Amino acid sequence: MIAASILSANFARLGAEIEEVLGHGCDFLHLDVMDGHFVPNISFGPHITEGARQATAGKVYLDAHLMVTNPLKYAPPLVKAGAHGITFHVEAVDDALAAAREIRKLGCHVGVTLRPMTSVETLYPLLDEVDLLLVMSVKPGFSGQKFMADMLPKVRELKKRVHKNQRIEIDGGINHETAKAARDAGVDWFVVASAIFDAKDRPAAIASIREQLQ
Ligand code: DX5
Ligand code: ZN
Repeated sequence: MIAASILSANFARLGAEIEEVLGHGCDFLHLDVMDGHFVPNISFGPHITEGARQATAGKVYLDAHLMVTNPLKYAPPLVKAGAHGITFHVEAVDDALAAAREIRKLGCHVGVTLRPMTSVETLYPLLDEVDLLLVMSVKPGFSGQKFMADMLPKVRELKKRVHKNQRIEIDGGINHETAKAARDAGVDWFVVASAIFDAKDRPAAIASIREQLQ
């Protein structure tokens, strides 16, 4: 599945941007929530999430990726605003197992992720607690960075360990040239921001990524 990350969308016309990418083959939306503290960028929070929910009439999966220092504080308002899944960074919490269980109580899907420099073993104790394992293939904070192919071994290691109802997602630098290697490594969900939103011909860009996933 292809998740369009609205981080690269034009926020002056967010509803139309969302409609366009979903209408041309993206499966759902990825919402990058940044607090200017966990990462050196500030993006958006519950208010824009609520806008995404309205733009999709609540019918499209909203996958929230929390790049914030205090995910347990922001998960409840994000779920209330319409997020269906909450993914937190292991580096942001003292007790990742407790954090996953706390987020689970909100009635949403639970995901966990890690910075490129964090070892994949950090996620193993959480394998029975989460629905989604997100491998970052760029440094979190900005769209438009180069894909780090050396993150693919993490995907392969996770693929050996996941249960059949769990998904592996990759985020950062995915385009028609990098998607195939990620798919071959075992990725289920592909987050894409700049390769879609910055493309002159967005429908063609989405189709060319989709082609690599067949
Ligand atoms: C980066 C975000 C990504 C970002 C991806 O911190 O987590 O979701 O929007 O952007 P691209 O696809 O341009 O690498
Ligand atoms: Zn993201």
